[in-house]
Amino acid sequence: MRALLTSKWTKIVVFLVCLIPLGMLVWRGLNNGLGANPVEFIQLTTGRWTLRFLVFTLCVTPFRKLLKLPDLIRFRRMLGLFAFSYLCIHFLTYLVLDQSLDLSAIWKDVAKRPFITVGFLGFLLLLPLAITSTAGWIRRLGGKRWQALHRAIYFAAVCGVIHYYWKVKSDVRMPLFYGALVGILLLWRLGDWFFKRRSAAGARLSPQHAPANPAQ
Ligand code: HEM
Repeated sequence: MRALLTSKWTKIVVFLVCLIPLGMLVWRGLNNGLGANPVEFIQLTTGRWTLRFLVFTLCVTPFRKLLKLPDLIRFRRMLGLFAFSYLCIHFLTYLVLDQSLDLSAIWKDVAKRPFITVGFLGFLLLLPLAITSTAGWIRRLGGKRWQALHRAIYFAAVCGVIHYYWKVKSDVRMPLFYGALVGILLLWRLGDWFFKRRSAAGARLSPQHAPANPAQ
């Protein structure tokens, strides 16, 4: 399994698989397959894939730990960047095809429609994460600060779920499904953090770490 996860070919295959939704969208576009409202079709498809890739990215750490497969980490950055890339297409479709780059209309829409406001917030949260995803930025920020910043992905995923929930209005089953997934992943992370803190506190109090002379 380790050889498979560390092979450069696996990374290439995963990269190509992540491109399939985009490829299908382009294929449909070239073959008149985007339905009666192509702009809506592109927005819905890219919105759903953004959320899916956010969930895939959030799954990497729990899967690494629960399945004892540390090498899964090699795919996290790629999955996160795919989430951001699908979001950029989603956002650009809105800006260019839906709003014709009319900045005052866009601003009014962001301010007036709560589902757009919260989607926009999700974009703003993910932007610094995409920018600082390189090894150079990890070095510049230092591991701890970089990790703290990248926890914003949870808030972005929550924004994505609320955005989806407010958008669909009637049939809320899919937004609730994604909400449950993000909730479970968030709870797992909180549990992991709590467990680590308790183990660290326990290790500090254990006899090996106690001062040789208790009066000291
Ligand atoms: C984390 C960020 C975001 C995520 C995860 C996301 C995801 C989604 C999802 C899942 C849908 C609904 C798909 C469906 O009904 O099946 C959607 C719809 C939509 N999103 Fe986003 N979105 C995000 C950010 C944005 C931003 C920044 C904008 C624009 C400012 C935006 C504009 C829209 C619009 C206009 C629709 C409705 C499309 C239509 O009904 O024609 N989204 N988005």
